[in-house]
Amino acid sequence: MRDFDEHNITQAVIDRFAGTPDARLKRILNSLVTHLHDFIRDVEPSFSEWEAAIGFLTRTGQMCDDKRQEFILLSDTLGVSMLVDAINHRLPAGATETTVLGPFFVAGAPEFANGADISGGLTGEMLFVEAKIAAADGTALPGAVVDVWQSDDDGFYDVQRTDLTDAALRGRFRADAQGRIWFRTIQPAAYPIPYDGPVGEMLTATARHPWRPAHVHFMIAAPGYETLVTHVFAAGDQYLDSDAVFGVKNSLIREFTHHPAGALPDGTTSDGPWRHLTYDFGLKPLAQQQAA
Ligand code: BEZ
Ligand code: FE
Repeated sequence: MRDFDEHNITQAVIDRFAGTPDARLKRILNSLVTHLHDFIRDVEPSFSEWEAAIGFLTRTGQMCDDKRQEFILLSDTLGVSMLVDAINHRLPAGATETTVLGPFFVAGAPEFANGADISGGLTGEMLFVEAKIAAADGTALPGAVVDVWQSDDDGFYDVQRTDLTDAALRGRFRADAQGRIWFRTIQPAAYPIPYDGPVGEMLTATARHPWRPAHVHFMIAAPGYETLVTHVFAAGDQYLDSDAVFGVKNSLIREFTHHPAGALPDGTTSDGPWRHLTYDFGLKPLAQQQAA
């Protein structure tokens, strides 16, 4: 076939993929071509706009390395990451809602016993965290592996700070016989997502801010359950309704309550005022394998 025009080219490209052996790949490409061509017909870009788009995507790729993933950041800020998350986490009652992983998770974080202090010597308002890990039906999950990570008092993760050589404000805990973990840390601060690259250009050009509300990340794994990736957000944060990556859910917001110096829930004491976060997590059972 020849003489493609703005009306018949879409079907011609789809036809060209007709021999794709993998049915799923074929379906994805057909849909991609359909929506991409419809988008182009809708927007009718000039050549200079098309060049600008290619330049933007090129710079986005060039910004990526083993520490920086600008394409995921683009996906996050376009709401695509949370859309993929929503589609893949249709949850039963009692299961904790999920949100983005983000770029600051580090595999192999230091392991701590319950009650430990993960602040790594960084200063801030003391925060005492208690969490209960259970199945969606409420059955406690002893031995669940819980990774936590968070920003410091100034909104930076340890991996963003050039002055730190050791991990700080991150660690791995194991749930006790009642499915509980608890630890000391500091109150996290709101922070901007990395905005010194193409995603930052996009935010600036569209009068959007790069801020995320203060939160503590949790990744919770237990055999027989889907690994839960989520955060708990601090109630009252000014960015809860405008999170740069659309990650906030009401069920994930908690008061980080204020308390005067004195006894902590684990029987130890705090010399100064402290804050308290409690959260009960519910994990979704893995789908049963169908018998062959
Ligand atoms: C985070 O919460 O760590 C995060 C998530 C998405 C983009 C940037 C940071
Ligand atoms: Fe974060």
